[in-house]
Amino acid sequence: MRPPPSPPPSPPPPLLLPFLLVFLFIFPNITTSQILPPTHSPITSPSSSSTTTTLDPKQIRALQSLNIPTSKDPCSQPSYQNATICDNTTPFRHVTSLTLSNCPSYVALSFTALKSLSTLHTLHLLNCHVPPIRFPPELISSLRSFTAVNSLRRVTGAWLSQLQNLTDLTITNVQVKASGPYVILAHMNKLQSLTISHANLIGYLPGHIHSKLTHIDFSGNQLKGNIPISITILDTLQSLNLSSNSLSGEIPASIGDLISLNFLSLASNSFSGSIPDSISAVPGLVHMDLSSNQLNEFYTEIGSV
Ligand SMILES: *[C@@H]1O[C@H](CO)[C@@H](O)[C@H](O)[C@H]1NC(C)=O
Ligand SMILES: *[C@@H]1O[C@H](CO)[C@@H](O)[C@H](O)[C@H]1NC(C)=O
Ligand SMILES: *[C@@H]1O[C@H](CO)[C@@H](O)[C@H](O)[C@H]1NC(C)=O
Repeated sequence: MRPPPSPPPSPPPPLLLPFLLVFLFIFPNITTSQILPPTHSPITSPSSSSTTTTLDPKQIRALQSLNIPTSKDPCSQPSYQNATICDNTTPFRHVTSLTLSNCPSYVALSFTALKSLSTLHTLHLLNCHVPPIRFPPELISSLRSFTAVNSLRRVTGAWLSQLQNLTDLTITNVQVKASGPYVILAHMNKLQSLTISHANLIGYLPGHIHSKLTHIDFSGNQLKGNIPISITILDTLQSLNLSSNSLSGEIPASIGDLISLNFLSLASNSFSGSIPDSISAVPGLVHMDLSSNQLNEFYTEIGSV
């Protein structure tokens, strides 16, 4: 639905005018738009500035199809459950961040809606069991951050691997069907934060991984094999969580090369041998959990979070 064209602002009634002028004299910083009733339209932004901006009507329809209420301005801050964040472009504003949470079962993503929302940099799905669909190329190009927590039922590695401009990927409690992490990550060159946890992901840690990563969380999967050198050369890595997998072998001495590491969990795997001394040289390590492995040492936990 298009918003009805707003009527031209009517001049203030003559009796009001002297009062208004006195008022403006006393409070010169207040613009007339704050005093006069706002021109009527359901989708105007909060009228603190004199320019009223509106969300692209095409995007309003897309949000409605996704069950996001639009009777109030979806671009006002904070919006309904913080679901939408908009830019300030003119003449129409555009949604740059969208969170769909606790979706009712009748909500579905549609290609048309997602195409209209191709200005999104961030898309978060929380408890939203919509079936995954093909994303339009414009959205794939624009997306920087994608989150699916307890959502989407199931995704394939090939589907995720298209999202090549992501800096942030979080998949938790979603079944991920792939022959291994490499299939998903091979072309995500810009990734900084990566979580694929509790996803039943099988396979081996990738032998090559992009070096801008600061966070890796593969916890709660079925990954096997050992920790490859590709992980321990990530000198910007601050947090590494490989807990609750089937990883094995010795913890490599090169783990001490992770000079930026603050959090490390290798708990609940099948690592064996001794804990490398090099770990004690990592300056900022505040939390380490190596419990529930077959390591020689008894004390496998330090710090607290
Ligand atoms: C919305 O965001 C504000 C500020 O970040 C936060 O304080 C508030 O709890 C959020 N509300 C919801 C419903 O998430
Ligand atoms: C990633 O973004 C750039 C522009 O920032 C764009 O040229 C490129 O096509 C995008 N990549 C993909 C796979 O969409
Ligand atoms: C690692 O992941 C597990 C399970 O997802 C979580 O409980 C734990 O807090 C995480 N630990 C760190 C150090 O991030």
